[in-house]
Amino acid sequence: METPLSPSAATETDLGLTEGQIGKVCEMIAAALRKGRKSFRSNAVQNIIEQHGPKLQEEMTSATVTVFENIIAWSSNIIARAVKVVRSRTPKEMIKALGRAEYTDNSVVKAIPKGEGDEVIVPAMTFAASANTVIHAGGKPVFADCDLATHNIDPSDIRRKITPRTKAIMVVHMAGRACDMDPIMEIAREHSLKVIEDAAHAVETEYKGRKIGTIGDIGCFSFYVTKNLVTAEGGMAITDNEEYADRMRILSLHGMSADAWKRYGDEGYKHYDVVEAGYKYNMTDIQASLGLHQLARIEEHAKRRKEIWERYMVELRGLPLTLPAPLPSDGRHALHLFTILVSDGAGVSRDQFLDQMTKRNIGTGVHFRALHLQPYYRTLLGHKEGDFPNAERIGDRTVSIPLSAKLSDSDVSDVIDAIQGVLASGK
Ligand SMILES: Cc1ncc(COP(=O)(O)O)c(C=O)c1O
Repeated sequence: METPLSPSAATETDLGLTEGQIGKVCEMIAAALRKGRKSFRSNAVQNIIEQHGPKLQEEMTSATVTVFENIIAWSSNIIARAVKVVRSRTPKEMIKALGRAEYTDNSVVKAIPKGEGDEVIVPAMTFAASANTVIHAGGKPVFADCDLATHNIDPSDIRRKITPRTKAIMVVHMAGRACDMDPIMEIAREHSLKVIEDAAHAVETEYKGRKIGTIGDIGCFSFYVTKNLVTAEGGMAITDNEEYADRMRILSLHGMSADAWKRYGDEGYKHYDVVEAGYKYNMTDIQASLGLHQLARIEEHAKRRKEIWERYMVELRGLPLTLPAPLPSDGRHALHLFTILVSDGAGVSRDQFLDQMTKRNIGTGVHFRALHLQPYYRTLLGHKEGDFPNAERIGDRTVSIPLSAKLSDSDVSDVIDAIQGVLASGK
């Protein structure tokens, strides 16, 4: 039986390809995807235990291939299905599946009406994307320090950084641990500020019974390949504010009033209007089909990460390291990153520790070096060492060790042995 062509396949036939030729292209793409899986596996053959990395199942590859076979390479019905599933899991209206969380933040920050140079408070301990998006939206990031124990933005420093130009606060739920949202929302109410939640690490996170991403005005999730839920690239923004939702939808697709699915629908071609200079931040069906499979396994993967987390907490105790703060009793930690701080008296510096772990075939990460000291922000905002002491202290000592549902018990033993070995060699 012939594969029915979607309305969007008009583009392919316009190119003059026969169905047979299109099938050939699909086969080539499918073969490339399978090859990609093999090279992903070859890491295990080389015995490298990656710091991050998704647990992928065979059917995810075939689901992706099916999408290619149906020649749908842009947002359509699979996105709509993914949105429906996510909406059923969140009390806020799900607004849009976007191509990348960085861009999600970007259109998010832009969705909040601001004047040129208006300020958004951002933690100094975060990934560059959080502050970059404020710049792209024409605003000015103003850094606030973080709490030494949780690594999350410190509400009392947010208060100190408010000026008459402040329009919004961006919080980042670091490593999957919820920020202390009650005082943050209180500050926002007092000063009429919007709150954007960068929930890139926090798909499963809850704060006092509420899902992260639904407490502030807009929540942004990343589904990048290192995250707990992976669509290779991708992300989502959620909001219950219709005005922001509409603006983000339009910004995410060239500023057009109708996406491709609506333009080439069953009732024939429909005109669209270009209402502003937008971007190209849409998610594709290929990404959404990966995400649906990952979503179905999110609790299974979280359970495995919890087992690994608990083993680390017990077996790394007593070493010259600071382990993560205890898990919250009134919320849920997404267990995205297991970050340790290498103590000053450990006999090895953080960077020597990273090198030694690499020599032992254990992957590590750094989340993050303090953002205000990165050359761009140091120059732009005139920052120097000592401006945000907690972010700097963490940024100079932090190491993320492997945490993924794909790790076996013996992988975890290898990680623990390696850490013990590196710290013993430093004595
Ligand atoms: C805290 C934080 N925010 C935003 C992002 C950006 O996400 P993406 O890579 O999906 O654009 C990341 C990515 O690692 C992140 O760690």
